Amino acid sequence: MVQRLEGRVAVVTGGGSGIGLATVRRFASEGAKVVVADLDPASGKAAADEVSGLFVQVDVTDEEQVKALFQTTVDTYGKLDIAFNNAGISPPDDDSILTTGIEAWERVQKVNLTSVYLCCKYALPHMQANGKGSIINTASFVATMGAATSQISYTASKGGVLAMSRELGVQFAREGIRVNALSPGPVNTPLLRELFAKDPERAARRLVHVPLGRFAEPEEIAAAVAFLASDDSSFMTASNFLVDGGIAGAYVTPL
Ligand SMILES: NC(=O)c1ccc[n+]([C@@H]2O[C@H](COP(=O)([O-])OP(=O)(O)OC[C@H]3O[C@@H](n4cnc5c(N)ncnc54)[C@H](O)[C@@H]3O)[C@@H](O)[C@H]2O)c1
Repeated sequence: MVQRLEGRVAVVTGGGSGIGLATVRRFASEGAKVVVADLDPASGKAAADEVSGLFVQVDVTDEEQVKALFQTTVDTYGKLDIAFNNAGISPPDDDSILTTGIEAWERVQKVNLTSVYLCCKYALPHMQANGKGSIINTASFVATMGAATSQISYTASKGGVLAMSRELGVQFAREGIRVNALSPGPVNTPLLRELFAKDPERAARRLVHVPLGRFAEPEEIAAAVAFLASDDSSFMTASNFLVDGGIAGAYVTPL
C-alpha cells in the first residue's frame, strides 16, 4: 500500500462501522494515526485497537463532546491533518414528507447535518494553526438526485452537507485547508443487505439505476476518502465527489 498519509493525524466519525470502519483501516494502512470517534463504545474501540489508534466516545450532536474530540486528538498526536466527518443515520421513521413527523425530521437533521457543522467548526481552528488540512464530509448521491422512495429529512440533511462543504472549501482555500463533500451511491452495508435480502423487489428497483449493476463495497468508498485526504487531490476543494457507480450520469442503463 502506498504511504500517502505517513505522519498524518486523522479523525473519523462513525469509525466503528461501514464506510467509517473501512476508512479507518485504509487511513491506517496508508500510514496515518487514526482517532476513531463513535457513539458505540464496543465497535469504536475495536476499530481503534485494530489500527493501534485512539478511541474517543462521542455523540457528534453534542457541541462540548465534539470540541473535546478535536482537542484530545491534538493533545495526543500534536496536530490535526484530516477530519472525515462521516457519522450519519437513516432511520425507518424518516420517509415520505406526508408521514414523517417533526421529531424524526429534527433527529436526522441533528445527527447528519448539525454534527457536520460542529465537526467543521471545531476541526478548522486546529488546521488553521497547522497551516493545512483536509476535511471530507459525507453527503450522499441523494444530495444530487431525487428519489421517489423518499427519506425526506435524510435527503435535505445531505443537501445541507453538500452546500456547507462547498462554502467552507471556498472560504478556507487560501489557508491551505481543503473541504470536499463525498457523495457515495448505495453501499453494501449490513443494514442495506438485510433490507434487500428480505425484499428483492426493493433491491431490483434501485439496482436498475446503477450502470455498474451493483452496490458499492465500503472499501471502494474508503479508497475515495483516502484520495481526498491525501495530497493526490491537492487541486480539489469545494467539490462534490460522487462515487456512485455512474448513477448520477445515467439515463438508460445496460441490460
Ligand atoms: N450506506 C450507504 O448506502 C450510504 C450511501 C450514501 C451515504 N452514506 C452515508 O455514509 C455515512 C456512513 O454510513 P454507513 O452506511 O457506513 O453507516 P453505519 O450505520 O454502518 O455506521 C455509522 C456509524 O456512525 C455511528 N453514529 C451514529 N450516530 C452517531 C452519533 N450521534 N455520534 C457518533 N457516532 C454516531 C454509529 O454508531 C456507526 O458506527 C453516513 O453519513 C451515511 O448517511 C451511506
